[in-house]
Amino acid sequence: MDEKKVMLSGIQPSGDLHLGNYLGAIKNWVARTDEFDNYYFMADMHTITVRQNPADLRRRTLEQLALYIACGLDPEKNTLFIQSHVHQHAELGWVLQCYTMFGELSRMTQFKDKSAKHKENINGGLFAYPSLMAADILLYQPDFVPVGEDQKQHCELTRDVAQRFNSVYGDVFKIPEPYIPKAGARVMSLNAPDSKMSKSLPEGCIFLMEKPEDIQRKFKRAITDSDTENCVRYDPAAKPGVANLMSIYSAITGSTYEQIEAEFAGCGYGKFKPAVGDAVVECLRPIREEATRILADKAYLESVYKAGAEKASYVANKTLRKVYKKLGFVAR
Ligand code: TYM
Repeated sequence: MDEKKVMLSGIQPSGDLHLGNYLGAIKNWVARTDEFDNYYFMADMHTITVRQNPADLRRRTLEQLALYIACGLDPEKNTLFIQSHVHQHAELGWVLQCYTMFGELSRMTQFKDKSAKHKENINGGLFAYPSLMAADILLYQPDFVPVGEDQKQHCELTRDVAQRFNSVYGDVFKIPEPYIPKAGARVMSLNAPDSKMSKSLPEGCIFLMEKPEDIQRKFKRAITDSDTENCVRYDPAAKPGVANLMSIYSAITGSTYEQIEAEFAGCGYGKFKPAVGDAVVECLRPIREEATRILADKAYLESVYKAGAEKASYVANKTLRKVYKKLGFVAR
């Protein structure tokens, strides 16, 4: 039998998981779970590039794991682990920093955004972050890295670093492809449709654990357009707010934009916005309920992340040993 291809991705537990994380990443992971050998992790080491409250970080890391499972990632079919439990990430991260260029790191959009936002704390980790992300990926020799649009640049840098390393030492790393969904790759803020949905704009952000009434309130207040057309039509340049709501609805229901236009023909935004809210509420309801149930079972969560770290370490170690040997480090 052919070996399964490998899929890998991670999310930082720096904030509560939101609809952008779900539609841009997790939903796509779940959809392909049987086809691939899968590795999904909580990228806790990445979060400390920005100051975190330790108790919140711990809570969110476990909540994220519960949500991964509640979204449909069966721990029997997916290796689910916490990044800091697999020390090979930090080790390969250091090696790859030595193969990532200052100019490359300076061009990263996430670095530019975060250093503008946290002027008092532009630390070395924030700058070198993409080398650690390259290590996260390359340790597992994945074929695909399913992410939202905003992580494409980091995935491309990962490919460049892997190719640079391979050109010196031979075929050490598989060159992975980013895997970006058609609908939901860039979910925008509900009240600022020119910014991506993120925890830093909470009023425009739908959190996966949020109460249905709060979700509905945010959708009812979502910015549509200043035009007087009041018509559900897909035109991202002229109607970015409506286009965003349509892409959310499309990602959840599977309807095309033409089908959505037909469904809401003559209805106006007053009917469309709560309908999108309802679709999101119904999609998230079972996820929230299941996550709440799983979170109460700390022993189960511990058994999942321990088994995950064990399997991940085994695979990561094979790659790291190979890298160390190529570099000329004396074997232990
Ligand atoms: P992070 O934690 O910011 O986001 C996690 C995933 O969610 C996607 N995403 C979105 N997709 C659509 N619309 C949005 N508004 C939106 N916001 C976030 C992101 O594209 C991502 O897929 N550096 C990574 C975490 C990471 C990682 C990795 C990912 C660390 N190591 C290795 C893949 C492989 C990050 O900060 O994503």
